Amino acid sequence: MQDSADAASGSLFKELRDIQYALDRSAIVATTDVAGKITATNQKFRDISGYSESDLLGQDHRIINSGHHSKEFFRNLWSTIVGGEVWTGELCNRAKNGNAYWVDTTIVPFLDDAGVPYQYMAIRFEITGRKRAETKLREQETLARLGEMAAVVAHEVKNPLAGIRGALQVISGRMPADAPDVAVLGDIQDRIDGLDQMVQDLLVFARPTPPTMGQTALLPLISGTVSMLSQDSAWAGVEIVVPETAPTLRVDAAQLQVVLFNLLLNAAQAVGGDGRVEVAVDTTPEWCEIRVGDDGPGLDPAVRDRLFEPFVTTKHRGSGLGLATAKRVVEMHHGTLVADSGPNGGTVLSIRLPVE
Ligand SMILES: Nc1ncnc2c1ncn2[C@@H]1O[C@H](COP(=O)(O)OP(=O)(O)O)[C@@H](O)[C@H]1O
Ligand SMILES: [Mg+2]
Repeated sequence: MQDSADAASGSLFKELRDIQYALDRSAIVATTDVAGKITATNQKFRDISGYSESDLLGQDHRIINSGHHSKEFFRNLWSTIVGGEVWTGELCNRAKNGNAYWVDTTIVPFLDDAGVPYQYMAIRFEITGRKRAETKLREQETLARLGEMAAVVAHEVKNPLAGIRGALQVISGRMPADAPDVAVLGDIQDRIDGLDQMVQDLLVFARPTPPTMGQTALLPLISGTVSMLSQDSAWAGVEIVVPETAPTLRVDAAQLQVVLFNLLLNAAQAVGGDGRVEVAVDTTPEWCEIRVGDDGPGLDPAVRDRLFEPFVTTKHRGSGLGLATAKRVVEMHHGTLVADSGPNGGTVLSIRLPVE
């Protein structure tokens, strides 16, 4: 009797071990206690997060929080599992090295006899690749819609703007130079120029022209772009460091200049017109990397993962098109553009272009 009970529980244990083995091979698993402290993790959890067991035990999941989700989101998650219900959703976490990764997550509360959770098990599958593909698709759809809109906008907005601007010039030309309204008209013209620039950005963005490649010495291109920016008195207080050497690459010089200008302008704006911006260049036989780093406040978590989408901006009068345009140009050059936190805070945008 005892023997057969042992045999039964032995095979039950084996079955449980087999299930755990299968789970550990397929999923990212962690258990936490009721206070949310991590009590166990499997190898896949440690691999993807980059943390060791001792980094993780006793910590709560804030250690892998990417800042992507709102407080409300986590409140909802917790109230679901504390109530004994299973929570499922997609979470963006951050690994020890700072990289974000997405996981499809199921959190199962284990209940005691009274129906109260005594521990939680989170089972996750990585979906970073799918999330990237979704973002790409969204970007392409937006782009296609924008392309259609651009023709209309060019006609319906740019032409009338030019007309209004011309009329204002005529009116202010008729006024005595010291008339008080001359300044007001000047302000209106400035605002119209701002609007016109925004429409222009939109056109450039929505109707990309394929790059015209030519051998281009990067160093004069970089210094030239820096002087373009420095001409604006708003950025007189920004110290911009340029590299000492840079290679010659086959690129569309005009388009690459627009990219560099956008990155430098963002950096100058990030440091609030008073700080340090550094352009650095690294070259290997395969690629050339141009980095624009600043010592500003760093990326706003609210837009961190959507920086390169059009119209994403944290600025009062931003168009949110600078980085979207830059990324598209770089990708048409078969390169990549990524944003990262700088080593001492601030932000670094890195353009990586293939070397032929
Ligand atoms: N160097 C930087 N430091 C901090 N945030 C940045 C930096 N560059 C870009 N960003 C963020 O990315 C957003 C999008 O930039 P961009 O596409 O150039 O549009 P815009 O400059 O019109 O806002 C900015 O509003 C800002 O929040
Ligand atoms: Mg910008």
